[in-house]
Parts: sequence; structure tokens; C-alpha cells
Amino acid sequence: MKSFEKLLMENKKWASDKQKIDPNFFKHLAKEQKPEFLWIGCSDSRVPAELIVNAEPGEMFIHRNIANQMVATDFNCLSVLQYAVAVLKVKHIIVCGHYNCGGVKAALNNQSTDLVLTNKWLMHIKNVYRLHQKEVNALATEQERIDRLVELNVIEQVKTLAYTSIIQQAWHEESRPIIHGWVYGLSDGLLKTLISMEPGHEIEPIFKYDYTEAVA
Ligand code: CO
Repeated sequence: MKSFEKLLMENKKWASDKQKIDPNFFKHLAKEQKPEFLWIGCSDSRVPAELIVNAEPGEMFIHRNIANQMVATDFNCLSVLQYAVAVLKVKHIIVCGHYNCGGVKAALNNQSTDLVLTNKWLMHIKNVYRLHQKEVNALATEQERIDRLVELNVIEQVKTLAYTSIIQQAWHEESRPIIHGWVYGLSDGLLKTLISMEPGHEIEPIFKYDYTEAVA
């Protein structure tokens, strides 16, 4: 059997197992989705969003990219964010990074790469490093520097979310969502909380929109 055929076979088994437990499982799911969570995670195959939190289909709206970045000019991420916040009305957004992230590791070194798109994507993480280089450079080992930058990267993405008009408008009008920054340990399978921002959290004045008037 070829590797991709195993996926199709496993899918049949999974669908039939779900039907056995609850004959209406797919009927209910097919009608609509009402996820409470938007998850922004890394594309890394070792951090499967639903699996590590034991979530079922329908529970999480998911966006994943290299090194779990929220880039305010990335239409892909912004579209997911807008839909999740304005239409699905999620209550929580989780940015989840993971230790020993290959994207963060690559951003921390100076090796040139043939991956001309990837190295530009990683420039955003080099900027996170630039903001915190004193703290990162003070750490003794490369592993510690990578793992701290992983954490700082999550925190910066949470802030970037709060800087968007999409979030600020939802905070202003509906007092949601709460934004969480978590990090996942590849070696122990555990999540750790790094930061959370509730509606109304004080943000840098230059990023604050004035909602006494409409903002585009
Ligand atoms: Co990663």
C-alpha cells in the first residue's frame, strides 16, 4: 500500500468509527460550525492543533503557517482572522508556538537559503529578535536562545493581533475575544501559557484606533 492510500483507508475507518459512536455526528456538523476558538499555530507536523488539545471537528477554526505568525499584511491570515472574529464570533484566539521551532531556528542564523520565499517570511522573526536581542543574546546556549525567541515570537504575534482594527472593533463592540499566547513542548507534549490579553487591554497608543468614528 502506498503511503497516501493509507490516509484514505484510515479516513474510512475514522468516519465509520465516528458514525458508530454517534449516528448523527456528521449530520449535525454538516449544518453549521460554531467554533469558540481560533487557533493560529505553526505548520510543523509535530504540533497537530486538534490532537494536542483533544478537540473534535467543529471546535476550532484553524490557521497554520511557518512559525505561527500573524502578519498584518498577509491577506490569508487576515481573512481567517476577520471571518473568525466578525462572522463566527469566536470567544478566544490562541497563538500557539512550539519549542525548537525550525522557522525560528532558521531566522536566528545567517545562512543564506535557496528558499527565497521562506527567508522573506522569516524576516518577521528576525525583527522580533531585533526588538529583544539584548535579552536573547544574554542566554548561554543556542538552544536557550531559540526557545526564548520562540516565546517572544508568540508574545509579539499576540500584540500584533491586538493592534489590528479587526480585534479592536470586536473588543469595543462586543467585549471579545480574549487573545492567548501559548507554547507547546515537543519533548513533553505540554502547553504553557505565556500571555493573555482581555478586551480593553492597554495597547501602545500609536496602534490604538479611535472608535468614536468608523475605522476602515
Ligand atoms: Co515551528
